[in-house]
Amino acid sequence: MTWQNKLSTLITDLYDYAASQSSDPLVASVQELSHGFNDLRRFRRDDYFSQAWARSAYLGYFAPKNIARLAFLLDLLEREGHLADLPQQPHVVDLGAGPLVGSLAFHTRFAQPGTRFFAVDQSRQMLKLGRDFFNAQFPSEAQLKTISGNLKAPAKNWGPREPADLILVANVLNEFGEPRRSLKAREVFLDQLRRFLKPQGYLLLVEPAQRVASQGLSLLRDSWRGGKDLHLLAPCMALETCPMGPRAPTWCHTSFQWRHPAKLFQLIQKLGFQANPLSLSYSLWQRNSKVPRNKGVRLVSDVMGQKGASQQLMACDHKNELIRIPMKKFIDLPSPARGQWALSLDTKQWAIK
Ligand SMILES: C[S@@+](CC[C@H](N)C(=O)[O-])C[C@H]1O[C@@H](n2cnc3c(N)ncnc32)[C@H](O)[C@@H]1O
Repeated sequence: MTWQNKLSTLITDLYDYAASQSSDPLVASVQELSHGFNDLRRFRRDDYFSQAWARSAYLGYFAPKNIARLAFLLDLLEREGHLADLPQQPHVVDLGAGPLVGSLAFHTRFAQPGTRFFAVDQSRQMLKLGRDFFNAQFPSEAQLKTISGNLKAPAKNWGPREPADLILVANVLNEFGEPRRSLKAREVFLDQLRRFLKPQGYLLLVEPAQRVASQGLSLLRDSWRGGKDLHLLAPCMALETCPMGPRAPTWCHTSFQWRHPAKLFQLIQKLGFQANPLSLSYSLWQRNSKVPRNKGVRLVSDVMGQKGASQQLMACDHKNELIRIPMKKFIDLPSPARGQWALSLDTKQWAIK
C-alpha cells in the first residue's frame, strides 16, 4: 500500500471519527471555526478547543488537510535527501499537536515500526481525542506520550525527557501573536528547543500559506537564524536575507496537488472551499550539521505567462536572490511547480537574471 493510499484511509476514518464527536452539523461548525482562524484575536486568550463543536470541526476538516499537507511535505523533504540523518526508529516530538496532526502525518508517510511520539498541546481534550484515534489506528506498534502544557512557559514544564530526532511545530507560531510583536516570544520558544534535539536532530517549522503567516516565518528565519547551532536546510538555498519577507510583494510557500478522499471532498464542496492546491510555508533546520550550500534553485512561483516560449517561473538562487527562469530550461523536470528544487542541467549554479 502506498503512503498516499494509507493517507486516504486514515483521513476517511478521521472524518467519521469527527462526525461521531458532536451532533452539530460539520459544515456549519467548520465555517464557524474557519471565521475564528481568520480572526485569530478572538481565539488567543482561550483554549478554543474547549467546545465539542470546535473539536469536531477541527477533526473533520482542518486536521485532515494539515495531515495531508505535512505528509506531502515530509515526502518532499525525504525525496530531496534533507532527512537523511533520521534513524530507523526515530523519536518524533509534535509541539502544538492539536489532535496529533504531525504525529499522524509522520506515521502515515514513514510507518516505521518502533517510532516513538511525544506530543504537547494546551488542549487536554484535543490531545485525548488525538490519542484515542492514534491508538485505534496503530494499536500495536506505535509508542505515544502526550502532555498538556503551555509552550510559552519554560520548557521544563512540558519538554520531552528524551532528545528528539525530529521536532515538528506545525501551524502554531502564528498563534503566538502578530509576527513582529511576537518575534521575541517565538525566538525564546525556538531557543528552548535545541536542547531537546539530538546532535543531528531536525526542527521543522510549518505555517499556513497565507501572506501574514508566511512572511512571519521569513521574518523569524532572518532574525533567529537558527540560534546557537541550528542550520537551515530548506526551502532556502542560502541563509542570506529572505527576498520574500514582510515588505515583499510576494511570499514564499509550497503547494501540492492531492486527490482528496471522497468524504472530505464532498465536505469541501458543501463548504464552497477550494480543494487544491494544498499549500503551506515551512523551514527545516538541523542541529550541528555542516550543511554545504544547496546547489540549484527553489521554485517560488506558479508558472507565469501564456503557453509556449514565454512561460517562466520565479526561483530563489544560491544567494537567495529572486531570478526568473524560462520553462524551456527545465528539461529534466517534467512539470516544474512551486516548491520544487531544481538543478541546472550541468548541476552548476543557475546564473540567469
Ligand atoms: C491551528 S492548531 C495546529 C494543530 C496541529 N499542529 C496542526 O498542524 O493541525 C494550533 C494548536 O496549537 C495549540 N497551541 C497554541 N498556543 C499554544 C501554547 N501556547 N501552548 C500549547 N499549545 C498551544 C492549540 O491548542 C492548537 O491545538
